[in-house]
Order: sequence, then C-alpha cells, then structure tokens
Amino acid sequence: MIFKTLKPQVKTIISNTQKTVDQRLLSICELLETHIDYYNWVGFYFRNGNKEELLLGPYVGEPTDHTVIPFGKGICGQVAISNENFVVPDVTTQDNYIACSITVKAEIVVPIFVNGKNIGQIDIDSNMPDPFTEADERFLEFVCTQVATLV
Ligand code: SME
Repeated sequence: MIFKTLKPQVKTIISNTQKTVDQRLLSICELLETHIDYYNWVGFYFRNGNKEELLLGPYVGEPTDHTVIPFGKGICGQVAISNENFVVPDVTTQDNYIACSITVKAEIVVPIFVNGKNIGQIDIDSNMPDPFTEADERFLEFVCTQVATLV
C-alpha cells in the first residue's frame, strides 16, 4: 500500500530543519504528486491572519489564478468554515466550486488543525473521476497532523 510507504517519508521531510517550512511543504506536495498517480495538483492553502480568506501556499501542478479564496467560496472556502474533509467525486455536480483547470474531475480537501483551530488545508485535484477513498482521507489527515507541527 503506497500510503504506508509514504508516511515515513512525510515524517522525514517534516523533520528536516535544514529546509524552510515552505520548502518542506513543497517537498510534501512533490512527494504526493509523484507517487500517487491520481494526485494531479497538490497544494496548501492557509488562513490569512484573522481575515476570512485563504492564501495559496506551496503547490505543484498547473499554476492557478486562485491565490486568494474567501471563506465560503469554492470547495476550499467551504472547508475553511465546516472544519470537515470535503471529498468531491465529480466536480461537475458542485455549484459552489472554483474551477482551476478543465482537466480536473475530482477534488479532496482536508483541513489542518493547530490547537483545535482550522488554520489551513491540503487541496488535491485529480484528473481521474471518483478516485478518492477513505484511505486517502486517513492518509491526508496524517499529512495534515504532521504539517500542523510546522506551522
Ligand atoms: N477547486 C478549488 C479551488 C482551488 S484549485 O483546485 C487549485 C475550490 O473549489 O475551492
């Protein structure tokens, strides 16, 4: 199982104090995008201070115009409010969705908590329809818990 192999690699990246936080976050994006074939865009969004908006952090994949997302807008903005994972098997079924690329078929967003506060999220787009399972959710929750120790 790929997730079992990736978990220690995520830990190794997180604990590498030779790199800046953003470099480590980018390395995590690269690790996931490289090893999981249905992860085609992998990035982090973080809350902008006390403002009700998210700012794009490190990511890999096609550049996006959506570097600032207000709370409530799109899948990401909804997760900023709900504090819950959001799995979208088919993005065409979503009214409140921000399209970044026409190749994207599915999306998963998992929040990052620090001291119980939702401070950001990992966002993954897939070009494959309905690819995400509960195993992805558990793995990405692990990644977010690791990231929470950095920020
Ligand atoms: N699709 C997201 C926007 C971010 S991009 O996927 C990079 C959304 O609906 O919030």
